[in-house]
Amino acid sequence: MSDTLKRRAAERAVALVGEGFRVGLGTGSTARHFVSLLGERVRGGLGIIAVPTSETIHAQATEEGIPLTTLDETPELDLTVDGADELDGDLRLIKGGGGALLREKIVAAASKRMIVIADESKRVDVLGRFPLPIEVVPFGLAATRRSVENCLRRMNLPDETSLRMAANGEPFLTDGGHYILDAKLLRIDRPEELAASLQAIPGVVEHGLFISLATGAIVATASGVDEIGRV
Ligand code: 5RP
Repeated sequence: MSDTLKRRAAERAVALVGEGFRVGLGTGSTARHFVSLLGERVRGGLGIIAVPTSETIHAQATEEGIPLTTLDETPELDLTVDGADELDGDLRLIKGGGGALLREKIVAAASKRMIVIADESKRVDVLGRFPLPIEVVPFGLAATRRSVENCLRRMNLPDETSLRMAANGEPFLTDGGHYILDAKLLRIDRPEELAASLQAIPGVVEHGLFISLATGAIVATASGVDEIGRV
């Protein structure tokens, strides 16, 4: 069911793409539906260029025949469509479940519009049930982790993080060659403050709180498709 809803949200989003658009392609299973539907439109004659947010989506978009560019060649995008691990009613997000948060945030920030596509399970009243991904450089991991955990403690949040591991038993490496610490915070009452505090820690490359980036969301539910913000 969830996959059907993801596809439904992606179907609505793909209709937003117009001729000549510069499009940011998100990462994850919901974004994959969007890329597949966008590929169909491109093969039907739609002229666009796109910037993928991960190597995985780069590969899928290439297979789909979607013309690709980079933010160096095309530093401003018209529309980015991406999934999320959680979204609240103010379009604040947790992202990075798939480990692509850094490129996803750079691409979203370069876009005039960022539309989130999701099934209803992602919609929450308060962010935090999904563990917050925090991307860190491998150098000085233990020291950076200690600073992150101290920061969480100061904010009266659960202060344990776990180093994300890959299937091969090694630490998971992002496309940028970084590690990810996942923080099970349960309830983030002050996401803006937490975002600013994490960002100030040396060694933290990025975190999965996306605030003031999404301009709209398309959330597919069993009874229809809801829109939040400007879609
Ligand atoms: C990847 C992400 C994804 O958008 C997020 O994990 C949602 O994935 P899915 O659509 O598979 O539920 O942030 O870094």
